[in-house]
Amino acid sequence: MTIIDSPTAIGSGSAATDNFKGERFTADTSPERLSAMASEALAGFSALIQKFGVTYDEYRVLKQWLIEVGEGGEWPLLLDVFVEHEIEDVNSRKFKGTKGSIEGPYYLPGAPELSSPATLPMRPEDRKQTPFIMRGQVTDLEGEPLAGSTIELWHADAEGYYSGFAPHIPDWNLRGTIVTDREGRYELTTIAPAPYQIPTDGPTGQFIEAAGWHPWRPAHLHLRVSAENQHPIITQLYFAGGEWLDSDVASATKPELLLNPHTDDCGRNVVRYDFTLDPLDA
Ligand SMILES: [Fe+2]
Repeated sequence: MTIIDSPTAIGSGSAATDNFKGERFTADTSPERLSAMASEALAGFSALIQKFGVTYDEYRVLKQWLIEVGEGGEWPLLLDVFVEHEIEDVNSRKFKGTKGSIEGPYYLPGAPELSSPATLPMRPEDRKQTPFIMRGQVTDLEGEPLAGSTIELWHADAEGYYSGFAPHIPDWNLRGTIVTDREGRYELTTIAPAPYQIPTDGPTGQFIEAAGWHPWRPAHLHLRVSAENQHPIITQLYFAGGEWLDSDVASATKPELLLNPHTDDCGRNVVRYDFTLDPLDA
């Protein structure tokens, strides 16, 4: 029997927080805009407290829990699961190309570059899974092929764990940057990821359990598609008929992002998916 060190929430949480803290972000928010947004957020809290008659016990538990979210490194997880989908929605309305979805906390820049057709780095145990082959083309809004565009792909293994965050998985496993050919075409071989629960042993998971919600995300691939002079897309692709599609804990599914693979003569699961990018000045 193989004993695997299951990744803990604190382990993957700290990795996600350290990864995010590597860069210093700024926003040109005016004092007026900041004041208006903060006032509305506080008014929302006040209304909620009045409506539910929030008790001192509940207030103290909230403070304690917020401290634990920070200490457990789970702010990226908590915000990406419950808030990012709304940010993505607001910021993608103007685009006409392929639909975006949330990035989530498990992206790592600099995945190994692979020319098409590509096979993602994988372990012997990953190779025991049914091969999953995705091919297609990257074009601009006019349908012109985007040669040399890149598809960064990262996804969980068949047990729902990500390399770079789960200590038992080698770096860059099931991650890669695929470069399209002269016609903007790509082909990649990987395995189908499994649905996974967001970490349940930390404060985010404890909150979900206390509220009687479920922590599952449907099986998905994460992608970031980029090309010169085009607006990059960050998105996720899901599998038609898969579990949890209608109740994704991160509310990040969209009907346009469903894959419907078929089985080819060699028993492999194969699907085509094309990406369309908006121009940078959209
Ligand atoms: Fe994910």
